[in-house]
Amino acid sequence: MSKPKVNIAMIGCGFMGRAHSNGLNKVRSFFDLPVEPVKKVLCCRNAETGARLAERFGWPELAIDWQEVVKRPDVDVVDIATPVHTHAEIALAALRAGKAVICEKPLASNLSEALSLAEVSEQTGLPSMCMFNLRAIPAVSLAHELIREGAVGSVHQWRSTFQQGHLVNPNFPLVWRLRKDAAGSGALGDIGSHSIDMALLLVGRITDVCGMLHTYTKERWIPVKDMGRDSIPSDKKGNVTVDDAAWSLLRFENGARGSLEATRMATGRLMANQFEVYGSQGGLAFSFSRMNELEFFSLNDSARVRGWRTINVTDPVHPYMKAWWPAGHPIGYEHTFVHAYANFFTAYGKGKPAEPSFREAARVQAVVDAIEKTNLTQAWTKVEEV
Ligand SMILES: NC(=O)c1ccc[n+]([C@@H]2O[C@H](COP(=O)([O-])OP(=O)(O)OC[C@H]3O[C@@H](n4cnc5c(N)ncnc54)[C@H](O)[C@@H]3O)[C@@H](O)[C@H]2O)c1
Repeated sequence: MSKPKVNIAMIGCGFMGRAHSNGLNKVRSFFDLPVEPVKKVLCCRNAETGARLAERFGWPELAIDWQEVVKRPDVDVVDIATPVHTHAEIALAALRAGKAVICEKPLASNLSEALSLAEVSEQTGLPSMCMFNLRAIPAVSLAHELIREGAVGSVHQWRSTFQQGHLVNPNFPLVWRLRKDAAGSGALGDIGSHSIDMALLLVGRITDVCGMLHTYTKERWIPVKDMGRDSIPSDKKGNVTVDDAAWSLLRFENGARGSLEATRMATGRLMANQFEVYGSQGGLAFSFSRMNELEFFSLNDSARVRGWRTINVTDPVHPYMKAWWPAGHPIGYEHTFVHAYANFFTAYGKGKPAEPSFREAARVQAVVDAIEKTNLTQAWTKVEEV
């Protein structure tokens, strides 16, 4: 039986443009969705890059101007994969044109933008989702299930570290991610926001933070053309206006305490993204570099065999895994986008809100904003309740 078609317009053709296109290609083949997502139009301000991506990933139409695209009557969902400073303007225009919106993380450049997006998206009654895709890693979802079922008792401690090392290179160019006007925030908002999203999901609301941000290299070469890590530097330098690294202590509403580290200055690290959760009855530990595994310790095991066990999260009983391969066959980073889209289009088809919603993404933004404030005041700071 044919399913209702949902036409998608995607804006942005960089790293996430490819990741989203790939996710959209896979989701209808692997997940049984109530609707059929259709890649309708790809919007890229660079026609050559857009044409290449459209040809490789099967976008039937290419557009240059996102303002035209978000208003089109034959578009149902707008998927935003552009730098952070563009999110609010594009998403608001799409929401006001009556479209459901998927937007890359962090949702916005600051809390007030994120709050308007949450409010306007709620008024549309359509699902909107922020692409915090790392929460759709099966091992992270399993951790969520185990915590909800009480497997670790009441959670009292969170620890997350998200470490990259590329900024140790003093010649790394001044790409958009290192400019506040384009990125809103540095390591904190870019990679730390994933950890904050997972902390809010797994532990609960963060009420107070006490943090520190640091920019180690204050000036970098302006790129001739911003092509991320592949940018060619010019002979002119400009100011780095965001943090290279950020840390914070965290107080949670449920009494738990914790810490967060997000850095691009961890020499030699690529995507070292870890968290640990400790509770009255057990603990959980996750590492992105072993993303098909979850470590679990339970005080309820008999003392004779008690110890940390490694769960291979590839069995069909595990979240999302029934859709993939027989137990033991690992999956990877790209699958997290497929899972996020499966969640979104299931919600869309059922007329329900999708998760993480723009409201949840605004809660992440509230924590980012509070950590930035505390860096100035050097004192514990309340996180705005959103
Ligand atoms: N979820 C994840 O795992 C993940 C990973 C990386 C990046 N991201 C997020 O995805 C977003 C995009 O990051 P990226 O790595 O793909 O960036 P990128 O630099 O690789 O690509 C950005 C794209 O946006 C386009 N663009 C730039 N400014 C624009 C404007 N004013 N109007 C229209 N298009 C514009 C560029 O031409 C390019 O096609 C960011 O919000 C980033 O934080 C998420």
